[in-house]
Amino acid sequence: RVKDASFISSASSLANTTPEGLSEVAFIGRSNVGKSSIINALTNKKGLAKSSSTPGKTRLINFFNVLLSDEEKDFTLQFVDLPGFGYARVSHSMKEEWQKHLTQYIERRISIRVFVHLIDSRHPFLESDKEVHAYLEGIVRPDQRILRIFTKADKLKQSDVSVIKKNYPDAILVSSSSKKGIDRALKAIFETVFG
Ligand code: GTP
Ligand code: MG
Repeated sequence: RVKDASFISSASSLANTTPEGLSEVAFIGRSNVGKSSIINALTNKKGLAKSSSTPGKTRLINFFNVLLSDEEKDFTLQFVDLPGFGYARVSHSMKEEWQKHLTQYIERRISIRVFVHLIDSRHPFLESDKEVHAYLEGIVRPDQRILRIFTKADKLKQSDVSVIKKNYPDAILVSSSSKKGIDRALKAIFETVFG
């Protein structure tokens, strides 16, 4: 259960981030996949992370403190909302600059415990997501995990759900709008960090 969540800070690059410390959960995925929305759904706080129907909304590395409780004890985590990849409506040089800051954070930030790779459940087999998954597998340290979560499950037909479950047996499907699967996703994140 999430008891409280609050915005801590934004950073444009690794050099400007908050000090290393609390275990971090980094939300990674294409622009518009629902990274900011799932942070709001998981913390049950609308508007905590800024979401928008226009891709490219999140442009900085945003840190949120999340206070969790499992009935016996409290735990603190940091959720990190990241800019999406694949956002085309900026100049090439700006894209490269973002990419550089993003990969620096992903590869050098010691505190990251979990990479939550968000995939749009309506497009579960995109080449770009395969590339991101392979990239993450290539850089994860032994103390880090990758969790795949499929977003916007409210848009799926039951037959689409079956296809995803067949291809990704451990798939976690969530909808940030209907909150379906959100408890399961929170539990998976919690167990991956503290389990
Ligand atoms: P960037 O910051 O641009 O990288 O995007 P993002 O990945 O943070 O996506 P964001 O959370 O801003 O959501 C993008 C759009 O998808 C918004 O219009 C959301 O309302 C919508 N959206 C997010 N999650 C869901 C969901 O579970 N179901 C539906 N139907 N729409 C969703
Ligand atoms: Mg965002």
